[in-house]
Amino acid sequence: MHVTWDAATAEKGGYEHFMLKEIHEQPKAIRDTLAGRIKDGLVDLSQEISLSAEELKRFDKIHFVACGTAYHAGLIGKSVVEKLARIPVEVDVASEYRYRDPIITPSTLVVVVSQSGETADTLAALREAQKAGAQVLGITNVVGSSVAREADEVLMTWAGPEIAVASTKAYTTQLIAIYLFGLYLARILETRSESELAEATEALLKLPKQAETLLEDPSAIRRFAGDIAQHEDLFFIGRGLDHAVVMEGSLKLKEISYIHSDAYAAGELKHGTLALIEEGIPVIALATQKAVYDKMVSNIIEVKARGAHVLGLGLEGDDELGKSVDEVITIPETLPLLTPVLSVIPLQLLAYYTSTARGLNVDKPRNLAKSVTVE
Ligand code: G6P
Repeated sequence: MHVTWDAATAEKGGYEHFMLKEIHEQPKAIRDTLAGRIKDGLVDLSQEISLSAEELKRFDKIHFVACGTAYHAGLIGKSVVEKLARIPVEVDVASEYRYRDPIITPSTLVVVVSQSGETADTLAALREAQKAGAQVLGITNVVGSSVAREADEVLMTWAGPEIAVASTKAYTTQLIAIYLFGLYLARILETRSESELAEATEALLKLPKQAETLLEDPSAIRRFAGDIAQHEDLFFIGRGLDHAVVMEGSLKLKEISYIHSDAYAAGELKHGTLALIEEGIPVIALATQKAVYDKMVSNIIEVKARGAHVLGLGLEGDDELGKSVDEVITIPETLPLLTPVLSVIPLQLLAYYTSTARGLNVDKPRNLAKSVTVE
């Protein structure tokens, strides 16, 4: 027998890098994070969250606090919780939260999101919030981590170990944990009808399969990555939830390709950034949110008219988008609120293939650490 794999290759499960392996592990990670948390077609977290219905009903505001990619999950969390449970939500990066004298009362729920559960800024925010009398819910991927031990309530993500510095499966499972929490809260608070909750839960369960479909053929993304690898500047645009997703896509690309990019709320372009759009500049436009679709297409036309080379990401069955962009990637259709779990995947792949096209160290980018345990 001839063994062609060394130990390091075996650890990567046959993938060239941990990041690519972890991107491909997302369907399983999502499935594992959903497992055991849905009963009779509805989300039930009563085994994990010890707060009673009465206690949950007392919260009058929620703060999401986190760093990096986990902060971007928090931005989605704001839309999810406000839409489902109708409680006002603020989102802060942990290093700002502590110093801005936030209004925290005993009726505030502070949700800290941290893959490692050890990020110094996030932990400091958690402690500060508890000191001010808030209840803290920790969403983390590491059992026994500081966040898991110190938070009053814990919701685990079951992504498994994440090795690549650029976070991928941790982010998508953080979104899943947030959806589960939002749906559970809405059920307790009775802010959504049972049929709406059941519909959303059913859609959640379809996500792993849809993520698998999305991962089948990366050739179009790879081609676009080869093109943007030649540039030093580019733009991501989106509206609503798509804006939060492109912020994560832009961060991913910066982290591992060292290409500068800005993620803009597409409607805000005309108030400044449009001045930077010139012939040939790549623009990645996410257009998955039906409520703002027409406005988004107008924004795409604005950048096209100024010479941008546009990659559009739209939903399957969208025959319009192709008319206003140079290349299209399609995303399987789910509820608008859940789309970020799927739409981020092509952006992760784009960052990955751009980094490899530039011959960079994908898993260990310069100057960055997987977990930052100093403030
Ligand atoms: C570091 C990592 C990021 C991560 C952030 C927060 O900066 O490089 O990928 O998003 O920390 O990490 P956490 O473990 O708290 O989610």
